[in-house]
Amino acid sequence: GRRVTVRDIAAAKQRGERWPMVTAYDAMTARLFDQAGIPVMLVGDSAAMVVYGYDSTLPVTVDDLVTLTAAVVRGSSRAMVVADLPFASYQASPEQALASAARFMKEAGAHAVKLEGGRRVLPQIETLVSAGVPVMGHLGLTPQSVNVFGGYRVQGRGQSGDELMADAKALEHVGAFAVVLECVPADLAARVTAALSVPTIGIGAGPACDAQVLVWQDLMGLTPHPAKFVKKYADLAGEMDHAVRAFADDVVSGAFPGPEHSYR
Ligand code: KIV
Ligand code: NA
Repeated sequence: GRRVTVRDIAAAKQRGERWPMVTAYDAMTARLFDQAGIPVMLVGDSAAMVVYGYDSTLPVTVDDLVTLTAAVVRGSSRAMVVADLPFASYQASPEQALASAARFMKEAGAHAVKLEGGRRVLPQIETLVSAGVPVMGHLGLTPQSVNVFGGYRVQGRGQSGDELMADAKALEHVGAFAVVLECVPADLAARVTAALSVPTIGIGAGPACDAQVLVWQDLMGLTPHPAKFVKKYADLAGEMDHAVRAFADDVVSGAFPGPEHSYR
């Protein structure tokens, strides 16, 4: 079949259908999630932590993410693949944003990009949209601004909820096809979801959002100390720990490899 497109995403909101998004960073997990019917995959700059071992998203580069995005596109055939524009690859100017997005689309085959911020990045979004690049917005806890927030904390409480609502409307106005809401109060996310004609994608933003996204290592139980908003659907850390210890024991004892694993 064909890939999911921005038109499918718009139609889902019209029909009131919820949908799931997960992150992916390599071909094998992308194939698995694709075959499970996940319609949209995000090559998040969370790769900075879960792939590259940094302690924030700030150090990861376009080069780092283009390689991963290409693998996710190769591993999937149905999902729309959205690539995160990393820190300092779009903030400087609309021209910088287009140059970065072009790398993801031309070198990796990404179908859309995501960038963080509201009214301060409207010129960037306008330029991308007029160049034919579908843009996903990201409001609330925007991890590339962790040093301004002073930590990873809930955003949009009280007065700043009005600011977030204005940002969301502005993103829709300049043509963003969806907006991620990260770590915002559920009632604010519900009001934003009702106010927008494009879908909201929640992460720690309550049940009213049109879609939900999680980092796959979080939902599979690989992350040591996941946030409150994470639901663990598997215990891969436990499974993998058990498996690798069993392998190690078998090698030391001589139980592996057996005759059935050997060539005669
Ligand atoms: O980088 C990421 O994984 C993200 C999602 C959690 C929305 O931006
Ligand atoms: Na991100």
